[in-house]
Amino acid sequence: MGDDTPYPFEVIKESADYLLSGTQHRPKIGVICGSGLGGLADQLDERDVFPYESIPNFPVSTVAGHAGRMVIGLLSGVPVMCMQGRFHAYEGYPLWKCAMPVRVMKLMGVSHIIVTNAAGGLNPEYKIGDIMIIKDHINMQGFAGDSPLRGRNDERFGPRFPAMNNAYDKNLIAMAKKIVADMNLTNVVQEGVYVMLGGPTYETVAELNMLRIIGVDAVGMSTVPEVVVARHCGMKVFAFSLITNQCITQYDTDAQANHEEVIEVANIRKKDLQNLARRIIVNMSEE
Ligand code: 6GU
Repeated sequence: MGDDTPYPFEVIKESADYLLSGTQHRPKIGVICGSGLGGLADQLDERDVFPYESIPNFPVSTVAGHAGRMVIGLLSGVPVMCMQGRFHAYEGYPLWKCAMPVRVMKLMGVSHIIVTNAAGGLNPEYKIGDIMIIKDHINMQGFAGDSPLRGRNDERFGPRFPAMNNAYDKNLIAMAKKIVADMNLTNVVQEGVYVMLGGPTYETVAELNMLRIIGVDAVGMSTVPEVVVARHCGMKVFAFSLITNQCITQYDTDAQANHEEVIEVANIRKKDLQNLARRIIVNMSEE
C-alpha cells in the first residue's frame, strides 16, 4: 500500500483486534510517552507488552532513547495503554502513519488520550526542566498543506472538516492544574502554545524569532499529528511538554541544541512527570 493515503478502517481494526485478543484489559485511557515519560509504561501492573514489530500494520520506530512497544496494564488500578516510543515525521513516515496508533486506540475503546513530548522552551520565562501544559498548538505542516487527515475521509472515524479549537480539553487542564498545586509543582509548571516542526534539524535563530512572534512557547517535532487524529475521532486530549533546553534566539553564542541534553533533562524530571501523569490518569478515570 502506498504512503499517500491513510490505512482504511479495516486495516486499523485488524491492529485493534490483535491487541484486544492479546490482553484482558479494556483501557479507556491512552498515553503516548515522549522522551522522559517512557518509564511510566514500566510501572504498569499486570502488563501485556507488544513490540511494535509484532502488531499487524504497525510502523517500527527507529530513534535512540525511544523503545518501540505498546504496553497495556493497570496504573493505580486503572487500565491504560501506553505507547513507549512514537513515530516521527523526520523518520520518514507520512503524518497519518505517525498518528495511526491513535486510531487503533480508538477502535479498542480509548476515549481519553495523554500526549507528551520533549520540547525546546522559546518563552524566555521558561526554565530547563519545566513542564508545559499544552493549551493550544500551531500546526505548521497544516499551513504547508500537509495533514494526517489528508486523503479520503472515513466518517466512521470522524468528519471531513473537524474543528480544532478546544483541541486541548479545558476541564482536563483545570484538573491537572489542581494536581500540580497539590504536588507543589506550581513553580515548574507552565501553560503554553506548542508548535511542531518537521525536524530533524533544530531551528535557526531567524526561525525561532519568527515562531516567538507568532505566539509559540515551546518547539518540538511531534504531538500535533496525534492530537489532530485524536480530536478528529472525538477523543478528549490532554498534553504536556517537558522543556529540555532553551531555544537559542541570539547569534552571538556557541551553545547548540542537542539530543543528549534532551535525554539528560528528561531523566532528571522523570519521577515528577510519572507521578503527575499517574494522578491525572486516576482523575480522568473518575470522569
Ligand atoms: Cl529546540 N526544537 C525542536 N524542534 N524540538 C526540540 C527542541 C528544539 N528541543 C527538544 N525538542
